Amino acid sequence: MKIIQIGVGGFGQSWLNTIAKSDVAEMVALVDLSEDALTAACEEHGWRSEMCYTDLTEALASTDADLAVVVTPPAFHRGPVIQAMEAGLDVLSEKPMAESPEDCRAMMQAAADLGRTYTVSQNYRYNPAIYTMARVIQEGLIGEVGQVKIDFYKGVDFGGGFRHEMDNPVLVDMSIHHFDMIRFITGLNPETARGSAWNPSWSNYAGDCSSSILFTMKGGARILYNASWCAKGDFCDWNGHWQIEGEKGTLIYDKDVVTHIPIDGLYKPGEPVTLELDTMEKMGQVWVLNNLIECRASGAAPQTVCTDNIQSIAMVFAAVEAVESGKVVPVAV
Ligand SMILES: NC(=O)c1ccc[n+]([C@@H]2O[C@H](COP(=O)([O-])OP(=O)(O)OC[C@H]3O[C@@H](n4cnc5c(N)ncnc54)[C@H](O)[C@@H]3O)[C@@H](O)[C@H]2O)c1
Repeated sequence: MKIIQIGVGGFGQSWLNTIAKSDVAEMVALVDLSEDALTAACEEHGWRSEMCYTDLTEALASTDADLAVVVTPPAFHRGPVIQAMEAGLDVLSEKPMAESPEDCRAMMQAAADLGRTYTVSQNYRYNPAIYTMARVIQEGLIGEVGQVKIDFYKGVDFGGGFRHEMDNPVLVDMSIHHFDMIRFITGLNPETARGSAWNPSWSNYAGDCSSSILFTMKGGARILYNASWCAKGDFCDWNGHWQIEGEKGTLIYDKDVVTHIPIDGLYKPGEPVTLELDTMEKMGQVWVLNNLIECRASGAAPQTVCTDNIQSIAMVFAAVEAVESGKVVPVAV
């Protein structure tokens, strides 16, 4: 698989490493508006400067690639994603798919019209603890899921950049991981969102950096999601702290440990059991990249192809509308 990567600064460096180390993918071009970012990428990985472009049109015309990996800020996904598909490439973009429903619809429409596969990377899914929870819930260990509480509290300073300027930095740039994991782990899809967002006096973010969202899922289960990037303390890992309650028991996720609490009768907790986690040969971005290549060969749809991922990003847009309007908002794009 020959790859053009668009956006090589920031998190783009993580994709550069993944692709450089891959034995099934080959980097053929790098595109970034920043000459410095391109130079640093070449120095780090020993790539030739002839592979670097500041103009995507020129890069697409000069190289023969199969896949574009787009790692630009979310507001700048739409342009390169559609342009690469128009040039005949499949596309993998970073999460979140976009900052607006209009951009999401435009990219999905382009993929459908052009017959290309556009996938959004949700690397947080591909982790042994997350896979284990999804599997045991599917196998019925805790029965029907009725309520879930997720607490994501971290104090994070990016030292500037787009996140510090966004209206709802955590909901738009971070919570997409957790919302996508909610769907993946519980197997439930969302119906409505309500909530509130605020910005504590000490926050160094322009937008509201703390929020509490209540999702009603199809079938009636409720998900209470609390998140902050300006917490005074590092209370959880990047996945958050999860309590998933079903009719037969509870699963707790905390810092890569999954605990099962069986319930005896109606409410009596049994002895907690630490679950042995599934083993995974590939995780995170490596899983995403390899799965894309396998799907391209088999014709199967990747797990987080845009037509699926739209349901995760729809939770973000509904949460934002809910906190801004104070209303109960249907989750739909
Ligand atoms: N999956 C994860 O765990 C994870 C972690 C961090 C960031 N991200 C995502 O990665 C994406 C990029 O975030 P970041 O933190 O790397 O941002 P960043 O601002 O640090 O870097 C973005 C890079 O893209 C370049 N760029 C901007 N517009 C461009 C354009 N039109 N064409 C070419 N290059 C362009 C910039 O020059 C810069 O080098 C976002 O969607 C973000 O949400 C994902």
